[in-house]
Amino acid sequence: MLNIAVCVSGGGTNLQAIIDAIDDGTITNTRIVAVISNNSGAYALERAKKHGIEGVCITPKQFETRESFNRAFLEKIDSYQADLIVLAGFLVVLPEIMIKKYRNHIINIHPSLIPSFCGTGYYGLKVHEGVLERGVKVTGATVHFVDEGTDTGPIILQQPVMVEQDDTPQVLQRRVMEQAEWKILPQAIDLIANKKVSVQNGKVIIDTTCL
Ligand code: GAR
Repeated sequence: MLNIAVCVSGGGTNLQAIIDAIDDGTITNTRIVAVISNNSGAYALERAKKHGIEGVCITPKQFETRESFNRAFLEKIDSYQADLIVLAGFLVVLPEIMIKKYRNHIINIHPSLIPSFCGTGYYGLKVHEGVLERGVKVTGATVHFVDEGTDTGPIILQQPVMVEQDDTPQVLQRRVMEQAEWKILPQAIDLIANKKVSVQNGKVIIDTTCL
């Protein structure tokens, strides 16, 4: 059984996709041991509560220094003894010590086809006047392992999504979630839970036998 801790900051639709996929058997051999939010008002915490999952809030604002937050955050994560940490819209930069300790045991969902539209200080689709920069026609989402860089870790799954001419940022963001994020994040967790994923020379290899 893969024990996962899910880190969130906002609405938690990706968390919901994971909960639903566990409930309907799309994800097997997996249990959510905790939902951790840096935002006490995050609707994701409500979603956890509704499903009887432990939810906690820990935020840098509660601490005098970033260092003390980092220490407390790592202690909190350690306390759940999770096999996998899932960043599902978690908008806090992880302490480096945690990335080292949990190498290849932290995954993130990012709303673009990495390496397009990623990097420091950038979260979400990079939209300008209602469409992706320079009129990009295809976007999507990526699930990747987290390393010391920003959106630079080994890629596990990607799903493209078409951009329509009259898309608003909201319409496009919703399509990326529906057609990509809510599918590939549960799928990646299921692959990991069933030991189908390994990292070799910085690249993810998926065992496709018996899929
Ligand atoms: C999702 O679109 C996710 O890809 C994005 O935040 C949103 C969270 O939505 N994550 C990032 O931008 C991280 N770089 P949710 O709370 O409804 O799951």
